[in-house]
Amino acid sequence: MKVVSGSASVALAHELSTAMGAKFIETAYEKHPGGFPDDERYVRVLGDLAGDHVVLIQSTHPDPKVVELLLLIDAVRELRPRMVSLVIPYFGYGRQDKRFEPGEALSAKALAKHVQVGVDEVLTMGLHNPDILTFFDVPAREVNGMPAVGRYLRGRDIDFILAPDDNAIRHAKDVAKAAGKPWDALSKTRIDSYNVKFEPKKLDVRGKRVAIVDDVISTGGTVALAAKELKQQGARHVLAAVVHGLFVASAWDKLAVCDEVAASDTIPSRATRFSVAPEFAAALRSESPGRK
Ligand code: R5P
Repeated sequence: MKVVSGSASVALAHELSTAMGAKFIETAYEKHPGGFPDDERYVRVLGDLAGDHVVLIQSTHPDPKVVELLLLIDAVRELRPRMVSLVIPYFGYGRQDKRFEPGEALSAKALAKHVQVGVDEVLTMGLHNPDILTFFDVPAREVNGMPAVGRYLRGRDIDFILAPDDNAIRHAKDVAKAAGKPWDALSKTRIDSYNVKFEPKKLDVRGKRVAIVDDVISTGGTVALAAKELKQQGARHVLAAVVHGLFVASAWDKLAVCDEVAASDTIPSRATRFSVAPEFAAALRSESPGRK
């Protein structure tokens, strides 16, 4: 097995190749001899892949990484591998999972249809909606990233786990069970893309070190408001731990209310504290209908 990475996922790809005992194949990005005087992506895979099972890894965020992925699939295929497993650690465009208004693009489906061309299976993580897997024609699987969050929190001296909304309850339950800690949840209403509000609720957090657990931080609105609520109710320390850290717009300003913010390496950022490589390695080792 050999691992090839897009520029969005290099650190995770190195971790994955170590976890799998697979060879990491270097790739050149944006280094066309002579160069094109524009912003177009360029890739060149610097190794032999003939007859190999290749794990190609690239998050589809931000947009240029999508184009880069399409180029990589072409480059990898040209090198005649036996099989290509595409790992998309963070599936960008996953939140437009339906046509909310007439005439809208079904972005998640459009992306799935294009990135699957030339690969034999797809593995991704922390999907906004697992139904997105049905948009792929090749075998597609969602890998759970929460065990990685749980592993990180086990070493963080946490007393209490909080889910900031209904969607996060299953995540908080998993993490609380693994850590042997109590948990609770807030009930969230989204006002618009940037603002949310919570139903009033008394939480048993006075004097405690609390971890807010969620799949993704985007604008930071959800976690920041939950952290504010926790502090108002007497929490001593608030740590936010998520799989995907997007941190768009003024997210970091909002998140100043948290004592710590930790995210996995699906999207590298200043909050990256732990890797989901063990989760993807385990999934790649297991049987899949796409295997050749
Ligand atoms: C919502 O269902 C998700 O689990 C996250 O809570 C949400 O996407 C986070 O977005 P933001 O950081 O913009 O509040």
